[in-house]
Amino acid sequence: MALSDAIWFRQKAEEHNNLFRHSIPLIASENLISPITKEMIVSDLNNRYAEGLPGHRYYQGNRIVDEIETRTEQLMKTLFNSKQADVRPISGTNANQALVFALGEPGDKILSPSLDSGAHISSAEFGAVGMRGLKSSHMSFDFNEMKIDVDETRKIILSEKPKITLFGFSVFLFPAPIKELKNDLDEVGSKIWYDGAHVLGLIAGKRFQDPLREGADLITGSTHKTFPGPQHGAILGNTDDETWKKVRRGVFPGVLSNHHLGMMAGLGVTASEMLEFGETYADSVITNAKTLAQELHSLGFNVLAEKSGFTESHTILVDVKGNGGGKYVAETLEANGIILNKNMIPGDSNKKAQDPSGIRIGTQEVTRIGMGRSEMVHVANLIYSALNGKDVREDVRDLKEQFQEVKYCYGKETAYNFLQLYR
Ligand SMILES: Cc1ncc(COP(=O)(O)O)c(C=O)c1O
Repeated sequence: MALSDAIWFRQKAEEHNNLFRHSIPLIASENLISPITKEMIVSDLNNRYAEGLPGHRYYQGNRIVDEIETRTEQLMKTLFNSKQADVRPISGTNANQALVFALGEPGDKILSPSLDSGAHISSAEFGAVGMRGLKSSHMSFDFNEMKIDVDETRKIILSEKPKITLFGFSVFLFPAPIKELKNDLDEVGSKIWYDGAHVLGLIAGKRFQDPLREGADLITGSTHKTFPGPQHGAILGNTDDETWKKVRRGVFPGVLSNHHLGMMAGLGVTASEMLEFGETYADSVITNAKTLAQELHSLGFNVLAEKSGFTESHTILVDVKGNGGGKYVAETLEANGIILNKNMIPGDSNKKAQDPSGIRIGTQEVTRIGMGRSEMVHVANLIYSALNGKDVREDVRDLKEQFQEVKYCYGKETAYNFLQLYR
């Protein structure tokens, strides 16, 4: 019985692999890892513990882990041109938790975007920020342009005097106005925290804003969204030593003990690949997003932020009220092999999260498998046809069959046998 249960899992994993083999993946927070990164995850590193920092561990057996962690930090610092890097958080949320502990005390004021302007739940009252007891106020947001309203937000900064200011979105269409607000934030003595979970790969590829050069003290991020690495997190800093010490302690022992060493090594591999391929990858991700947005718009879809050019990132937000609503659209596309998510859009505050008026689309994963502008035009037309009653399953499979290899990384031939590494 037990063996048959285990085999059931293997079969299900295979079924899942096949599902994605034949689908067009457009979830804005997902990506594919490279062959060498995959090897790190199945290596013996996956089985070990390493609490603390290199040279200051609590367990034996960490000699090589220390080398790997030091090298991963170094590569991340080079990639982001940062003074500091912590590569231990095991997700973007975990990195955010570490920062709320490091930067704030219960009762401190934090300024951030509101949830309905696209912020992540970790900055909500019921998320990490609220659970730390921080008191939130929100930036003003221009829903027409889908950008932070600089003038109104400046007034809020000067009246609220937040101790921490957080820039970051789960629908991150345009760069945040850090440099525009930097002087005001300095005037009130606010630390600037940038949650780059979604756009970390675009920043690494130098095709989005450069938050540390614009004045951010710290960046947190997921390493598996536009940054095409393992499910993990990271913190990058250009801050003073005292703050950085608090960040280090916020991570460990604050919010984790062991930090998933196979993933961390995979992050090191991805960082090195991004140093080599990141700029062309990020370029293509953004070009694809713009092309897809334009084509959907031409086909009559209500792509948001038309006035601002739809997007400067990997993400597009589409109002699909006129197409049956977010739930219907996402499910109809899924039935046709096109995978994306329903999403709240401006004006949805009375709507349930399970049935919002929009969909969110990301182009990072289709870019990672080599799709370009002509495929984006094709994908837009498949979406249009599926939502107009056509069965496009075969067309989706035919298109996807041509794009099965992960690009912008060292190829399969560079990896050795996974099983040899996994004891
Ligand atoms: C802005 C933002 N921050 C943090 C996170 C959390 O990242 P993770 O899923 O790695 O915990 C997300 C996830 O989508 C996000 O959009």
